[in-house]
Order: sequence, then structure tokens, then C-alpha cells
Amino acid sequence: MRVLSLCLLVLAATTVDAQSPVPPPAAAIDDLPGFGRPVPVDAVRARRQTAMSRLGGGVLLVPAATIMDAGSVVIQDNDFRQDDSFFYLTGLETEGAWLLVSARADGGIDETLFLPRRVPSQEVWTGKRLGPGERAAELTGIADVRELHGDSLTAAVLSALRNAGGALHLVARGAIADRPERTRWEAAWPDVRDATAALAGMRVVKDDVELAAMRRSIVITTEAQRAAMRAIRPDMAEYEIEAVIEYTFRRHGADRVAFPSIVGSGPNSTTLHYDVNRRTMRAGDLVVMDIGAEYAQYAADVTRTVPVSGVFTPRQRAVYELVLATQQAAIDAVRPGITRADLSRIARRYMAEHSAGVCPGDDCTRYFIHGLTHWLGMRVHDVGGRVPLVPGMVFTIEPGIYIPEEEIGIRIEDDILVTPEGAEVLSSGAPRSVEDIEALMRSGRNGQENGGG
Ligand code: GLY
Repeated sequence: MRVLSLCLLVLAATTVDAQSPVPPPAAAIDDLPGFGRPVPVDAVRARRQTAMSRLGGGVLLVPAATIMDAGSVVIQDNDFRQDDSFFYLTGLETEGAWLLVSARADGGIDETLFLPRRVPSQEVWTGKRLGPGERAAELTGIADVRELHGDSLTAAVLSALRNAGGALHLVARGAIADRPERTRWEAAWPDVRDATAALAGMRVVKDDVELAAMRRSIVITTEAQRAAMRAIRPDMAEYEIEAVIEYTFRRHGADRVAFPSIVGSGPNSTTLHYDVNRRTMRAGDLVVMDIGAEYAQYAADVTRTVPVSGVFTPRQRAVYELVLATQQAAIDAVRPGITRADLSRIARRYMAEHSAGVCPGDDCTRYFIHGLTHWLGMRVHDVGGRVPLVPGMVFTIEPGIYIPEEEIGIRIEDDILVTPEGAEVLSSGAPRSVEDIEALMRSGRNGQENGGG
């Protein structure tokens, strides 16, 4: 019987093959006329005309989109991303949940997790959701897990406030911002305060679990930098390198990009947040790759600038070496107690003192047009404020020199962990020196899997 079934399967496959020849390849994508850009004027004018006649006259007012803050709106993925404060305090990626924590007189805390009711008919589409029960308690360490229904949350909040006294603390930004419940609680309890600063003060110093996630997001990102360096060739489009980078992110389990990938070549290397990534790279160009994977809600942010032809010109090399040495001067100065503003002064002083013959006017700081550092964590520009460094903080150091008239834009950015002794460069897996970059690019051209760096 089994043999017969197999024979029938083979026969069926043969028959299908015979009836369905392999389809011919589609036209080569690059041969399609005009790439669809720019859209021809006549076509869009005709659309406006048709729209007005369909509307039957009157006035049509259509605003363009405004720029989005990629740090707070994940524009690349439409999948769910948890609120940072909720994730920080629960580690849960469940939607629509609430955490309620109240202080007890004995110094302990009472904690309740509210989870939305599970709806089997929706789970056909969404997959199983976490509902109240032992699993939720296991995942969060919160024993009191309740189902959200009716006024259950408001009743619990008001009861907790009556028992604990004091203020109701809400994180003013983030998931609560648009919640109608907030107004009701503010009306019922006069002392409502913003917990943002308190949580930011905690989040700026990473614990071991956070550091483990960050190490992973950063290594994924340095792997992507290496893959990109091996792949770059003259006449490739910037988006091809973006694809290599983001393929590497996902291949190693990143959840999403932490911000839109910047792959800016030639003139685009001097635009700080260029992320159109549409230009064809030419031999002799520099290309800035400012990229970051997000893993387990934690961002990386690593920038490398490399020559498209695989070898820096003497002029590019001179500017590159100054950016690199400036970065190293700042990294060498990292230690507990110093501030990020101090590091910025050290870097700018170093660059100014070593600018002779490198930049027009012998002052490269005129071409260093952005800040030196930002905090890194659950957001690429994470919370933290202007506090002195202590061990466990993670931030970027990213000097740059941008000379548009020469189409030279160079930025080098690494992710730095403050240690009791100084700094650990978490992103050291991505080559930084001219020699290491050129060796890795050469190995890509020679077909070697792992060269250089
Ligand atoms: N590296 C991207 C950013 O700082 O926004």
C-alpha cells in the first residue's frame, strides 16, 4: 500500500512537472523603464484633475506627512513593540496589560499584574496570548495576576492608593499618554506625579540582564558591519548594502532595526541622518554606515565609514585618521566621575589641536557638526540626562568630520560600557583602523569568509 502511494505521488509530481514548465525569469529589475522615479508630472496632474471632478468641486487640502521620531515610533516594522517602562519592570511583551505596584508600611511592595482576557476567536489570528495564570506569574515573579474586566483596574488602583497613601506615580510619556483611565484617576486622586525621571535614573545604569541583551544587539550589529564591508563594490546601490545589513540582523535573531539604517555614499555621506539609501555607489566614494539592531528591546548603534573601492585615498585617509584619533582620545578619557560634556570638550580640543593641514582653515571642529555622545539602551537615544559616568552606563562616542564640498563625510561610532577602570568598547568587533577595514574589504573581494579586523 505504502509503495503504491509513493508511486502515485511520483506520478503526480511527474505529471505536474510536465504540465507546468518552469516559468521564464522575470525581466531584470534594473532593465525596467525609469525605476518609476520620479513620477511623471502629467500622471500626477491628471490624478489631481480626476480627484476634483470626483469630489464635485470645492477645495481639497492635503498635508504632507511630517517627519517621524524614529526613536519613539518604530517605522520599519508594524509588529508590536512593548512600552519601555512596562518592559523594564516586567520583561513581558504582552499587549494591553497593566502593572500596579504599591508601597507597604513595612517597606515591602505589593504587586498586581492585570492581563487582558484571552479571546480564542482572536487567537486564531494572533496566536495564543498570555492570560492570567501560573505562566504569567512564572514569567514576571508577580503572584497576583488578574484579568482586566470592567472597572477592575480602577478599583484596584484606588484601593491601593487608600491603603498605601502618598502619590499616584504615572510615566507621563509612553503607553499611558493616551489612556482615558488616566483622567479618571487624576480626578479621583489629587496627588499625581510623573515617574519618568525616577525610572530614567534607574535605566541609565544597566544591570547584568540588560547588558547581556545589549552585548547581543551590538555583536549582531558589528557582524552586519563586517558583512557589509565584505559585500561593498563600486556600482552597487546603497540599498543593496542596507539589505545585507538587515539580512544579517534578522539572520542572527534581531527583532527589528533600532532606527532606520543609514547607508550614505559620496555626497550622502555628509548628510547626518540620510536613510533613503537609493544612490549607486561609485569607486572613490566613501560610504557611511550608521546602523543598529534591536534585540530583546535593546538597541545597538555602530557607525563605520569605508571606501567603496576598498582602499582609502590619501586625502580620505588623512581625515579618517583624525576622526579615529579623536574618538580614541575620548575613549581613553572615559572613567567613572567624568561627564559626557567633559568628553566632548576633550574630543573637540584634540581635533582642534591636530587639524593643521587636514581641514580647510586648519580647524576640523568647524566640520564636526553634531554631538559626541548619546545614551544607549532601550532606545537608540536613551534616557539618562546630564549625570557623571558610573560603571554600568552605556553610551556612544561618535566624532565626525563632514566636508560637503569634497563629498567627504566620516563618522566613527562605538558603544561604550563604563567600567570601574574606564571603558569597554562593546562594538570592537567591527574593524576601525584603516588597515583592518581595508583587509576585511579585500577578503570580501577575494572570496574569503573571515578576513581582517
Ligand atoms: N546613529 C543614529 C542616531 O544616533 O540617531
